Formats: sequence, C-alpha cells, structure tokens
Amino acid sequence: MKTTFLLNGERITVDTAPTVTLLDWLREERGLTGTKEGCNEGDCGACSVMVTSQDGARALNACILFMPQVHGKAVRTIEGIAAPDGTLHPVQDAMIMHHGSQCGFCTPGFVVSMATAHVNGRRDHDDQIAGNLCRCTGYAPIIRAAQAAQEAPVPTHLTETPPAVEAVASSDHVAFPASCDELATWYLDHPSATLIAGATDVGLWVTKHLRDLDGVAFLGQCHELKAIHDDGGMLRFGAMATITDVLETVTPFAPSFAEMLRRYGSVQVRNAATIGGNIANGSPIGDSPPALIAAGAQLVLRKGTIQRELLLEDFYIEYGKQDRAAGEFVEAIEVPKDALARTQVYKISKRFDQDISAVCGAFDLEANRIAFGGMAGTPKRAPKTEEALARGETDRAVAALAQDFAPLSDMRASAAYRLQAAQGLLRRALSGDHSTVLEVRA
Ligand SMILES: Cc1cc2nc3c(=O)[nH]c(=O)nc-3n(C[C@H](O)[C@H](O)[C@H](O)COP(=O)(O)OP(=O)(O)OC[C@H]3O[C@@H](n4cnc5c(N)ncnc54)[C@H](O)[C@@H]3O)c2cc1C
Ligand code: FES
Ligand code: FES
Repeated sequence: MKTTFLLNGERITVDTAPTVTLLDWLREERGLTGTKEGCNEGDCGACSVMVTSQDGARALNACILFMPQVHGKAVRTIEGIAAPDGTLHPVQDAMIMHHGSQCGFCTPGFVVSMATAHVNGRRDHDDQIAGNLCRCTGYAPIIRAAQAAQEAPVPTHLTETPPAVEAVASSDHVAFPASCDELATWYLDHPSATLIAGATDVGLWVTKHLRDLDGVAFLGQCHELKAIHDDGGMLRFGAMATITDVLETVTPFAPSFAEMLRRYGSVQVRNAATIGGNIANGSPIGDSPPALIAAGAQLVLRKGTIQRELLLEDFYIEYGKQDRAAGEFVEAIEVPKDALARTQVYKISKRFDQDISAVCGAFDLEANRIAFGGMAGTPKRAPKTEEALARGETDRAVAALAQDFAPLSDMRASAAYRLQAAQGLLRRALSGDHSTVLEVRA
C-alpha cells in the first residue's frame, strides 16, 4: 500500500506490503543504516526515530512500526538530526564533549531520543532515555550530555509540520478507517482481520514469530478513537489513546496509577502502545487492566452499529479468551475519576524500567475492590480476600489470596514468590503506606 510521509524533511510516497517495518525499509530500501537493529522487538531503542504528527514529536521504535503507521507524519532518522548544512544538533555536540559514546552502536538511538526530548523541553532525562540500552559507555556521561544540551534552542529544521495527505481507501486486505463507523463496517465484513493499534504486540508477531497477517486494519487514522473526554466525574479514553496520553491525563489526580504507567515499557513503547490494545490483547500481565478493574472501569464495545457496555472485569473469561464477538472491537474505556484517584497500584518486576510485571496489584480499599495481574490466566479480582476485608479480618484476607489465586511459575517468578509478593502488597496497601518505590530507603 502507498504511504506518504516526510523523511528527514523530504516528502516521499512509497509502496510497500503493509507489514514491512520502518526499520527494514530504512535500512534495506533507503540505505539509511544509522538506525540500528538491536533486538527487533522494542526493547533496546537502537532503532529510535522521531515521528512528528499533529500530536507533536515522539520517539518511536522503528523495528515494530509498520510503514502505514507513518502515513501523514514526519520521520527523522539519525541522518536528519543534524541541520541540513551539517551543523550538529546540540545533543550531538554534548555527547562528544561529555564522552557519551564508546562502541557507538547505541548512540544513534540515544541521540534521536535525546533530540526528541529536547524538542519537547523534557528534563526528566532518566525517564526519557530509559528505553535506550547502552552496553559499554554507562549512562552517567549520556545524562550529563542531555543536561548540557537542555538550554540550547530547538533547531528550526526539527519543528516540522506533518504533511497533508489523502485518506487511504480500504481494500479487502488492508483498511485504514478514518472513523469508527468506517471501521465498524469494514470489520463486520472482515472479522478475521487483525486490528493494528500501536503494534507493540502485533509488531512482534511479524518480527519474531514471522507471521503473515492476512487482512489488517490500521486504526491510527481514526481520530475519534484517540479522543479522551473528562466530564469531571468520569474519564473516557478512546481505545487508541496511547499510554503516554493516558499518563499525561491521570498524572494530576491519580498519582499511584501514574507512577505505575511511568514504569510501563519505555517512552518509545508508551508513545505507541494504546490502552485499547493493552486491554484487548487479554494478557494476564498487562499493566493497565488490574488498576482499571479495581477502579470499576467499563468497556464500550462496538459491533456494526451496535454498542454495548461491559465491566472490564467481565471481559476476561479465561486465558486467551475475552467476551468479544467476531467483528466487535473496543471503542472506549470509561473509568470513574474518584475511584482511579484512590486506587493504589504496585508493579513488581525485575527491573525498574522497561520490564513486564511479575505481579501487579491494584487496591481501591474504600470500595473494597482488589485486582491482580500475573496471578492467574487473566487479570482478575480477589473475591474471597474482599469478603474477609468486608468482615474486617485483615489476616484472613491476606491468607485468602491463596484461595483466590493459583499463580503459575515462569521465567518472571515462581508461583510461591508471586503469592508471597501479592500478600506483601496487600499488607502494604492496608498499612496506608503510599510511598512509591523510589522513596523506599533502607
Ligand atoms: C518492549 C516492550 C515493553 C512492553 N512493556 C509493557 C509493560 O510494561 N506493561 C504492559 O502492560 N505491556 C507492555 N508491553 C506490551 C504492549 O505494549 C501492550 O500490551 C500494549 O498496550 C499493546 O497495545 P498496542 O496498541 O501496541 O496493541 P497492538 O499490538 O496494536 O494490538 C494488540 C492486540 O490488541 C488488538 N487490538 C488493538 N486495538 C484493539 C481494539 N480497539 N479493539 C479490539 N482489539 C484491538 C490487536 O488486534 C492485537 O490482538 C510491552 C511491549 C514491548 C514491545
Ligand atoms: S531494535 Fe531494539 S528496540 Fe528496535
Ligand atoms: S556505546 Fe557501546 S552500546 Fe552504547
């Protein structure tokens, strides 16, 4: 299919298969080999590119970004970060001055992430480069370089306006719906097609599992699905709201949920991953469902012209099975703000940044709603524990977690560790200790 975008300032239109990744295309078709392939699964940031849309400039991992996802956007690779006359970007100068590179493999990805953070005026450098791995230099010189460059003005060539483009007509194999109605109609006729939101899961099906996707719908042009509506009491996230958008929305009033989302993947992953994808994939270790279940969120599902609402906790039936009919998609997620504000969320993973949860616990103790991820085949509430708490029996509640859940052992944690960690999290929530993991000191 035809994709039109700005590449390092030049408007181009290319014709590719829909699931060719931007990384492969840049390197193999365009010879832009500054964008590196490290992991090819979103984990290392070596392939970072700056993508500017109407929402501003964002760093994304090109290895799990399909070509149609950049339609109508401006893409900057490392080759386009310096000015057209060759003047280095302030972060490039600072990386040299502060010895921010040794072997150099990771350096293009770091520079692109740092330049994107610089465009956005971000100074939380630890967070901004948490998705970029360096095996040899160490992070201190890189952070020093980011700090040294932060006051410099943004080079004018990086303040780009994305190009105006024509809507792409849908075919039997590929759809690019511009509205929910269009998506609903196409999906009803093609119920076995794969919906592609941020592609942080689907991308790996292609790059790692080498799957051919026969029939895909890219949801990125459907702006209705990106809308976030706050009526004061209820928040409504369109399914295509990214985790970055959700994080920005909840930061002022839901500190615990926001703190957990700050540790969701990395900047690049959060910029692509959507809340709808995180819910619809049915993963037992997805990070947003436990918190949203504890806060009493409900889903808005759509099939053809019919919408239905469903409590999120009822969406998950068993591992790999959700209450979603053929041709039905997630349109929005609605969550009461007061409950989300109260919900304490604790993520246990081996690394602070860029890691999937072994266990994720979420507690709205005022409403007596408790939910866990990583403890069963689906994200799930803890009914026996809640019953004991309703009777004021704290110790019994902690013990009842063993009746509510029979967790698995896997590479992330053993069953015994998961249960013990969950019990510790419940005790911590009951103690009223709302300190974040960063505030814990010996
Ligand atoms: C490096 C890396 C780190 C990660 N870290 C985390 C983490 O810390 N926490 C975490 O929870 N997850 C993490 N993930 C997993 C992933 O980012 C999330 O599950 C993400 O939210 C998926 O959203 P997406 O928009 O990318 O979905 P996609 O990959 O586009 O789609 C995922 C699935 O949902 C379906 N789908 C998407 N949108 C809809 C819709 N509106 N209606 C119906 N079906 C739909 C798709 O068809 C597909 O089956 C990580 C992934 C990577 C690659
Ligand atoms: S190659 Fe590692 S994130 Fe893309
Ligand atoms: S400079 Fe070698 S991996 Fe970072």
